[in-house]
Amino acid sequence: MDKFVIHGGKPLSGTVKISGAKNASLALMPATILAPGSFSLSNTPTLRDITTMAHLLESMGVKTSQQNHTMSIDSSRVSRFEAPYEHVKKMRASIYVLGPLLARYGKAKVSMPGGCAWGPRPVNLHLEGLKKLGASIELEGGYIVANAKRLKGARILFDVSSVGATGNVMMAAVLAQGFTTIENAAIEPEITSLAEFLQSMGAKIQGIGTSKLQVEGVDELRPKNVTTIPDRIEAGTFLIAGAIAGKKGGKVRLENCTPAHLNAIIAKLEDAGAGMRRGDGFVEIQPADEIKGVDVSTAIYPGFPTDMQAQWIALMSLAKGTSVVTDTIYRDRFMHVPELNRLGADVTVRDNTATVVGGQKLTGAKVMSTDLRASASLILAGLAAGGITEVLRVYHLDRGYESIEKKLQGLGADIERVKGEEF
Ligand code: UD1
Repeated sequence: MDKFVIHGGKPLSGTVKISGAKNASLALMPATILAPGSFSLSNTPTLRDITTMAHLLESMGVKTSQQNHTMSIDSSRVSRFEAPYEHVKKMRASIYVLGPLLARYGKAKVSMPGGCAWGPRPVNLHLEGLKKLGASIELEGGYIVANAKRLKGARILFDVSSVGATGNVMMAAVLAQGFTTIENAAIEPEITSLAEFLQSMGAKIQGIGTSKLQVEGVDELRPKNVTTIPDRIEAGTFLIAGAIAGKKGGKVRLENCTPAHLNAIIAKLEDAGAGMRRGDGFVEIQPADEIKGVDVSTAIYPGFPTDMQAQWIALMSLAKGTSVVTDTIYRDRFMHVPELNRLGADVTVRDNTATVVGGQKLTGAKVMSTDLRASASLILAGLAAGGITEVLRVYHLDRGYESIEKKLQGLGADIERVKGEEF
């Protein structure tokens, strides 16, 4: 397994191009099942999770190929209606095929996702929503087995705002008979981009970008090309790289991003003392002379994303004063904390709250982590740490950050990927 070796303390400056959003692509790709034909998805990031989704679609008979950043999909023939355990265990977003398969073919068998490194991640809302649309759902041998002759529109109110459940149920509702209302729908940009894609394919959806989606089912959809929105979490991670290791007096500039999707992160970085400038498709950060401690509580969009919580703790470890970081979305998502503490951070976790005593001098060490964003926080801490940091289990990063080491090298970081054994 590969590892990253970072010689910390190198000041970063320059320009980085942000890739397409992983979580948007993972919804757009399965949506192609809804209409037979050829699709071209541009700005698709080159990532392990995207390959996993492509393999899953191929196992169902869909043809896929990715050249540079364009994913071509031919969904003319779907011959298998199943997402097997081998795929779902690699990536929970595999469950996104459930709604489209059910809507278009009336049947689907999807391995039930288990928990993940940071605790339980239920899919009850996905299943309840699809049941409301008239699907019969059984759990057999670890699989969700869903059937429906034709789904029927219904009124659905989610107890909790869920990105995945909103996406899945919306994809099912667009081909259902009659009207569906989804209340307390997720309004994350990835869901809005999915809704707009479906609309371009001929779906009738009102309230896009709001928490109340109204869908009038249609009999069929047609293939359309789409450009994937920029990855706001990758962008946020590079902004924190600029805040934590930016050259004093210099700046890190992000291009190909959507500043409006980064409002919460930009606001918190301003509170921490960074100089922020934004414009059409770009954001620039000038690091603070002294990083201020800033409390953060994660929230659904447009709040501060849970996917940026680990990276924020890394930054706060160097801030002046103590800050409190609470995760209200995933209450157990703190696996990165013991590893950050090995680098010299002073973080204690109680329930879903981390107390970060800032002003620490970080020193390089070997660290490893159990998930994608936790790994990102370790890289950020390694950039600021003195000496050498080795981040093991790089495969987590390869799931969601395209060429992170090359992009950081472009900013002046001393980071290299070392192939092979990690111990
Ligand atoms: C998506 C993102 C993930 C991000 C998360 C929250 C993708 C592929 N992944 O995950 O990176 O961290 O949004 O922004 O887009 N919940 C239930 N029952 C359900 C579904 C969810 O109780 O059936 C709860 C979850 O436990 C969590 C909350 O709802 O507390 C939000 O989760 P959700 O928005 O569904 O996350 P995902 O779609 O899995």
